[in-house]
Order: sequence, then structure tokens, then C-alpha cells
Amino acid sequence: MAAQPAQQLPLLSNEEQAAVGILPASHWQQQSTQEDPNDDSASSLGSFVSSTASLTESIFAYRHINGRTYHGEIGNAESWEPNDERHKEALDIAHHVYTVVLDGKLHNAPLDKKNVQKVVDIGTGTGMWAIDFADEFPDSEVIGTDITPIQPPWVPPNVKFEIDDCNREWTWADNTFDFIHIRMMFGIIEDWDALFRQAYRTCKPGGYTESFVCDSTFRGDETVKDDSAIAQWGRVWNAAGKKMGRTFEVYAENLQQKGMEAAGFVDIEVKDYYIPLGVWHKDKVLAEKGLWWKIHAESDLEGYLNYPFHAVMGWTPAETGLYAAQLRKELNNPKIHGYTTVRSVWGRKPE
Ligand SMILES: C[S@@+](CC[C@H](N)C(=O)[O-])C[C@H]1O[C@@H](n2cnc3c(N)ncnc32)[C@H](O)[C@@H]1O
Repeated sequence: MAAQPAQQLPLLSNEEQAAVGILPASHWQQQSTQEDPNDDSASSLGSFVSSTASLTESIFAYRHINGRTYHGEIGNAESWEPNDERHKEALDIAHHVYTVVLDGKLHNAPLDKKNVQKVVDIGTGTGMWAIDFADEFPDSEVIGTDITPIQPPWVPPNVKFEIDDCNREWTWADNTFDFIHIRMMFGIIEDWDALFRQAYRTCKPGGYTESFVCDSTFRGDETVKDDSAIAQWGRVWNAAGKKMGRTFEVYAENLQQKGMEAAGFVDIEVKDYYIPLGVWHKDKVLAEKGLWWKIHAESDLEGYLNYPFHAVMGWTPAETGLYAAQLRKELNNPKIHGYTTVRSVWGRKPE
């Protein structure tokens, strides 16, 4: 498939945003008295779009948006995540969060240690899952793929990283892997059914595929007001995903289970995990999960918001910064009871 140039994304009008319940971006000005740390009006979607015209083939020729860097041109990938040092740290913390959420486990699929030889982690990020998995399964060979080279150089001998766009045709032969792991790839995958068809083809008979994703909408009880930053979060992300043609609503639409069923996987299991947003929960285990989740979110909130809110939805850096400041306040207020859910789905390819 030939490489496609990045598409210019038309911004959503105020009317279109209002239609899906998104408050005008100017709303956050009234909510916060904090100075905006991100006011860089020279950087905007316009400069991002024009910069894509002169991208080189090099995976190291990063895109710059509002002071953050993004992956270079590869295939038709259009990732919303920065690949700079600050965001790499956030991804490392995220790995710890997901491990704590899964009660210390790296997977739910019932893997037999003796029989797991070849494993792939699609969209591996900083590769922490691949490295931990390789340590736990020293006889396996683990490949981590990503579109950007943010993986560490020093890794266990049974790990290797490859640059690859998972939205394109996978080049591995049929029946290659004993285990395929796909974590937090919302807003990235163009077609979830096609993703699981490729996973099915490359999974060995008797092997497993497992997918893990977070609900893109924050929910809560009556303490979460409709005009709060927590309630607004999902509306903006979901509208941005629609604009990008890469949905964030994977949990809400149950795309993992549907995609695995359609591809032919069997013995599919679904497990949801509840995470309080912040430390408000009385249950100690849940409060710890919420604390780690909050540490992770706060480690690079601006990095998470920069692409969807600023580059896609057209909020100014100042508006995005004010929204982030308000969200931080709410996450640190134990009287506000927001939560999110993560869903793990795994299935077996029949023999
Ligand atoms: C939310 S991060 C998840 C990282 C890792 N799976 C984890 O859970 O820690 C998404 C990752 O997908 C990568 N990515 C984005 N588009 C991709 C594509 N088309 N093919 C492969 N990886 C991609 C990003 O560079 C980023 O590292």
C-alpha cells in the first residue's frame, strides 16, 4: 500500500460541538484563574498541516505541534500521542497503572508458559509491557511494534522492537504467534474488525489474542456535574475520534468483543475493571488504583490533550490549558466521585 499524505482535518464548528454536548472552549476561562502555561499562538493546526507537506521518509523527522513532538511519517498513521520525553514518562507510569489495575498481572488469557514461543505487542509504546512479559516468559521471543522509535535500547535478549503501522496489512505469515497483545490503541485503529482479522490470521491455532482499552468517557454519580471537566472529557475525545476517523469509543461500542467474534476467535472472555478518578473511594485497593491513575493522568495531561483538543477540535492552547487546570482541580477534589472503566477481552483461535 502506498504511503498516504496526512489529511487536513476540518475543525468542528461551535454548533457541531454544541450538538454533542461540548461546552464552548471559552467556558474554561471562567472556571480557572490560573495563568495559561501553553500560550504559544504561533503553533496551531495550520502550522501542523503545512509541516506535513514537507515530511521526510525518516521516522526520526518528528512533527511539532504546540511545543510537543509526534511521530514521523510512516504509512498512513496519524497518532494523537506525543513521543517526547515527558510523554514517554507518562507511558511508563501508565504501564504501572494497568499492571496495578490488573492486580499485578500482565495478561488474562490462560497462557501455558511451556507453550508460549512467539509473542507480539501491537503499538508497544515505550515497550514496558513487552519487557516485563519477556522476563516472565524467558523462553518466548517477544516483538513490540510501534510507529515511533521510543523504545529503550537495553532490553532482555528475548525482546526486539520493530517500526510498523498496524493499520496496514501485517507482514507476518499465517499462524505465527502464540499470543498477540493489543493495549490502549483507541483513537489509533482505523478498523477494529480488520485489526482482529489480522490478529486471527497471524495467531497460531490454540493461541490467544488479548485487547485492553479504557472507556473514553468519564462517568460518575451526582457529584459529577454535567458542565464539569470530568463530564466534558469524553464528549471532546469522542468528537475528536470521529473527526480523525479513528474511534475512541471502543469500550462503549464493545468493539473488542465484536471484532474478536467476527474474526472467529472462540472462548472469548470479557473483564471490566473499575477505577475511581482520584483518591475518593473508601475501599483501599480501589483508592490505590485511583491514586496511580491520577498520578499518570497528571504526569502529562497537556500531552494527552494537545492533539485531540487543540489540533483536531481547534481549541487554542490557552483554552486547552484552562480546561486541564480545571480537570486537575476536580481530580483532586475527594467530593467529586468520577470513575472510569477498563475492559480486557481475550479469545482463542480454534485448533
Ligand atoms: C496509548 S499508547 C499505548 C502504548 C502501549 N500499548 C501501552 O499500553 O503502554 C499508543 C501507542 O500506539 C502507537 N501507535 C500509534 N499509531 C500506530 C500505528 N498505526 N501502528 C502502530 N503503533 C501505533 C503510538 O506511537 C503509541 O506508542
